[in-house]
Amino acid sequence: MGDVEKTLLEETAAWVDEARAKTERTKKPWGVWIDAELGLRNHWYPAALSRDVEDGGFQGITLLGEDILLARQGGRLFALEDRCPHRGVRFSARPLCYTPETLTCWYHTLTFNLDDGELRTILNEPDSPLIGKLRIKSYPLEERKGIVFVFVGDVAAPPLEHDVAPGLLDDDAVVYCADPYVIEANWRLACENGYDPGHQFIHNWSPFSVKNGIPMSFGWVSNQESVLRTTHYVDDDDGPKGFTRKAAETNIVQEARIPMRDGSVVDVTLPAAEGKTPEELREIAEYAHSCEVGLWMPCMLKVEPWPAEPCIHFEAYVPRDEGSHTYFQFGVMKTRDTAEADAWMNGRAREEWEIPTVEDFTIDDAFARKELQKFYGEEDGWLRERLYRPDIELTMWRKFVTKHARGVQTRDHARGYFPR
Ligand SMILES: [Fe+2]
Repeated sequence: MGDVEKTLLEETAAWVDEARAKTERTKKPWGVWIDAELGLRNHWYPAALSRDVEDGGFQGITLLGEDILLARQGGRLFALEDRCPHRGVRFSARPLCYTPETLTCWYHTLTFNLDDGELRTILNEPDSPLIGKLRIKSYPLEERKGIVFVFVGDVAAPPLEHDVAPGLLDDDAVVYCADPYVIEANWRLACENGYDPGHQFIHNWSPFSVKNGIPMSFGWVSNQESVLRTTHYVDDDDGPKGFTRKAAETNIVQEARIPMRDGSVVDVTLPAAEGKTPEELREIAEYAHSCEVGLWMPCMLKVEPWPAEPCIHFEAYVPRDEGSHTYFQFGVMKTRDTAEADAWMNGRAREEWEIPTVEDFTIDDAFARKELQKFYGEEDGWLRERLYRPDIELTMWRKFVTKHARGVQTRDHARGYFPR
């Protein structure tokens, strides 16, 4: 770890150790994170799954507050501002393409180029002086591994690989995509929950843990020293930016007690730890040691392996609006063997990854994120929160993003491209 990371750690450590009370935003060392309610501008995001936009089909999505229409015509996929500049209706309300090159507004026949968004004609007034002057925004997009990635911003889009966790786009990555769903919580709460070492506690009640009799601990607890040892930073200019932590040197808390008023103590056990010997508990903790968790800009988590070899779990918390994000989950196996890849996509991924993870585990993360939303979304949680020591890794992420974000999305950006 270099000097930069050490400074980052020390600066943020002060904020959690001292458990400071309400402070104005400008004094926190992670201002960009507090401002980024609608997401980070000038980044690539997973926007949809390829399989959900068939040829001739459409999907209206909301990304960082921007309404976007995905349309596949003549085998080619397009992403356009989902708002007619005439009177503002969404094309996706009744999408209409008369030709594979054009999108026509269902209301007053304004007809736009699918590729660059320029107004090509108006069916009921083809001599209109508006033609050649009006346009809607067209978004850079890339389809890789069955995922539609869209770039939201004003600058030239950097390579997609810079905004995706390492490995997901590799040639030998066989990517099984679960159906994405919307969670009523701000995207930042999801990033923090996913990486939060202390949040393992909630998974003691996840069906995966209950069915398999696996106690998930009271939380992994890091301190400054162990974070220095276990965290690996990646912030090269020509690749993805993020950091990863190996569980190996984290304190995985398996035993806890509550002091009583009369001076006695009550031992507390995790539900699945009942009846297990210390040796068995140690083995389970050893298993957890093998996994590595990473958080990558702008909003992707990678856990390797999860839930077991050979699977690598990726998830993305894509900003939708102030109060919700779209939750994408990908189960990945690395192989160049076609038969093995087919087996993964047609059964194994469902059994070994999707059921234990998407159905039986991350539903508790979704629950926790929604519970955070009132405090952070409707109240002043970002200022009033009282952090404790294990939160140091969350504040490091906030600072990391504050340093590396290409921009912050605002409501003005979301209101559209055409002049007002
Ligand atoms: Fe979790």
